[in-house]
Amino acid sequence: MTGGDGVTGGDEARGIAQGPLRGARTGTGGTGDGRGGGPGGEPGEPAIVVRPDAESAAAAVAETLTGALEAAAARRGRADLASTGGSTPAAVYRALLAEPLHGRVPWAVLHLWVGDDRFVPRGDPNGNMGPIDRVLLPGVPELGLAPPPLDPANLHPWPTDAALAAGRPAAACAAAFEETLRAELAVDARGRPVFDAILVGIGPDGHLLSVFPGSAAFEAPGWTTWAPAPQHVEPHLVRVTLTPPALDATPGLVVAAFGAAKSAIVADLLGPAHAGPDRDERTLPALRARRAGATWVLDAAAAAGLAGDDPRRVG
Ligand code: 6PG
Repeated sequence: MTGGDGVTGGDEARGIAQGPLRGARTGTGGTGDGRGGGPGGEPGEPAIVVRPDAESAAAAVAETLTGALEAAAARRGRADLASTGGSTPAAVYRALLAEPLHGRVPWAVLHLWVGDDRFVPRGDPNGNMGPIDRVLLPGVPELGLAPPPLDPANLHPWPTDAALAAGRPAAACAAAFEETLRAELAVDARGRPVFDAILVGIGPDGHLLSVFPGSAAFEAPGWTTWAPAPQHVEPHLVRVTLTPPALDATPGLVVAAFGAAKSAIVADLLGPAHAGPDRDERTLPALRARRAGATWVLDAAAAAGLAGDDPRRVG
């Protein structure tokens, strides 16, 4: 199973600049609101859901995503979900494949995307399609979970295979993915893509997607970009990723962070030091997800640094 980006750099892990990133980016269009290079993020605070363990937290993630997808399907006959890599999606997919959620997920009209990936072929164990290919699409026969009735045409991986086969760089892959997004997705009044739900994990260095501390993705003009292989996290592989503004228009942004290794960064990201408008997302990109309308789903270990009576807690 593909793991998330594990920090290997200790002291380097926070606030490093990825020098070669700057100026090396792609994207086929601006966000139209001038926010790609600005401080970004909507004002307000997220809802926080805490569950006792990772399994029940994954079930809560699945429940939250299902609610957003159901609402979208009812409203417009289609539901767009951007999922994540890392260690959380497999358990989330198992919960989506089981009742009571299986019968609620609008599989027939569900379009499935991934928010970021490594620039590797489909099937590479480091790729973020892994949990989709190994757990979601085949189902889990040993648990009696059948393959979902998902239309293969509605599955939208980053086109890494095509780019690699043509000898094209990650920038071309990112640009091609953005073309597909622009053809398929609704766009809000500020020129941002409207996914109905996005699931992201966060790294212990405060990254989300493949937007690492110091990333030039904040300056990228479009919805997608690429990033050189990070040296402070594993795996050291070139990335393709949505840019931070591409997260802003979704009504269903869900952050999943499980385990004691996340407790310090969760407490920092959600703590008073970053409550104001002068917060520095370039140092801690996951602050982008600290906004009204987002839901942070934590297990008790990841939530250990938060107050038990935090007013943002909804469960
Ligand atoms: C990836 C994701 C990355 C991931 C975090 C958290 O490709 O792995 O882009 O942002 O979500 O590193 O991963 P975990 O949830 O596995 O800790």
